[in-house]
Amino acid sequence: MITFDNVQKQYPDGTVAVDGLSLEVPTGTLTVLVGPSGCGKTTSLRMINRMVDPTAGRVLVNGEDVRSQDPQTLRRGIGYVIQHAGLFPHRTVVDNVATVPRLMGASRKQAQATAMEVLHRVGLGDELARRYPAQLSGGQQQRVGVARALAADPPILLMDEPFSAVDPVVRKELQQELLRLQSVLAKTIVLVTHDIDEAITLGDRVAVLRPGGVLAQYATPEELLGDPADDFVAGFLGVDRGVRLLSFFSTAGLPLQTDRITSTGDMPMRDGDGRWMLVVDDEKRPVGWRDPHTSDSSATLVPAGRGFVPGKDPLRVALDAAVLSPCGFAVAVDEDGRTLGVVSSEEVTAVVRREHRQRTDSPVRKQP
Ligand SMILES: Nc1ncnc2c1ncn2[C@@H]1O[C@H](COP(=O)(O)OP(=O)(O)O)[C@@H](O)[C@H]1O
Ligand SMILES: [Mg+2]
Repeated sequence: MITFDNVQKQYPDGTVAVDGLSLEVPTGTLTVLVGPSGCGKTTSLRMINRMVDPTAGRVLVNGEDVRSQDPQTLRRGIGYVIQHAGLFPHRTVVDNVATVPRLMGASRKQAQATAMEVLHRVGLGDELARRYPAQLSGGQQQRVGVARALAADPPILLMDEPFSAVDPVVRKELQQELLRLQSVLAKTIVLVTHDIDEAITLGDRVAVLRPGGVLAQYATPEELLGDPADDFVAGFLGVDRGVRLLSFFSTAGLPLQTDRITSTGDMPMRDGDGRWMLVVDDEKRPVGWRDPHTSDSSATLVPAGRGFVPGKDPLRVALDAAVLSPCGFAVAVDEDGRTLGVVSSEEVTAVVRREHRQRTDSPVRKQP
């Protein structure tokens, strides 16, 4: 566990970068510090590994004040990843990653073996390992940065805007990669970003900082979206907060209709009494929607689009599917893509309202 206990940092020129910060980062979780530029995120992060020392208050790792620990020893247990990966340009990728195990006393051979292992873990193959950093894409360089931070298998990982310098598509990939890694490794991660979407995607908990280095709210993404502490947090979350909250609502309770489904194997195919009908193949996979307004039964079907898997996909996916459907019905499929039923956008929104009501009825906001 990492604890900020009423931490303040005032730089020698008088700038107060962090003010009265208290929060706890539970072991094995990913906490995101998010906020506009200059609000003290990097300063807060660096107080954990003693690159910066607080001017008041304490930072504790597992209950022990970091200032009572030797910085070198402390940092051996704390991986650090920064925006442009910070790789040594004149060392190969594998040598970059092997640096830390070497520093910790591993033989050259052992360090290289460890490096190859972590490179594979972050999705980089043998052919990239012999290259120099400049011969990699930005996204690959960030992966190497993550691999290097993981090479000593530290229990704590600090990440400062690790994905901010790569393009949006690669960024999404790296985010998913980090979530996958974290589900296996369960490190204690503190990640800094100015991007609220990244914070919501990655964080088990999110600390929103406001200018002046003051904590505005510390909560789960769901609590943030559902119940922002004030106008600053609400504004920072953006205008589509309500829709994004649907990512946390389940599709398990949606009522599925089956009387609007007809199979290519049915002879003759059921007509829908003037209603749209979903045509499925022999294996119950959706083929498309049959438009009741076209009399020609061999008319082309309207593609059914992406379905949702009840209980697995969130309500946002079901609503999206219903909105995009030509007739306002989302198709529910099982994990193998076989049709389970359909649900109307009205039924989806009814569940949205019920979920929202349940949340606003809950008597107190959960405190961190
Ligand atoms: N070494 C420093 N000396 C003086 N002021 C600094 C120093 N480092 C950062 N600051 C100031 O402290 C504030 C917080 O900076 P920083 O922690 O880097 O914010 P963030 O990472 O959220 O952008 C800013 O006003 C910044 O200009
Ligand atoms: Mg910063």
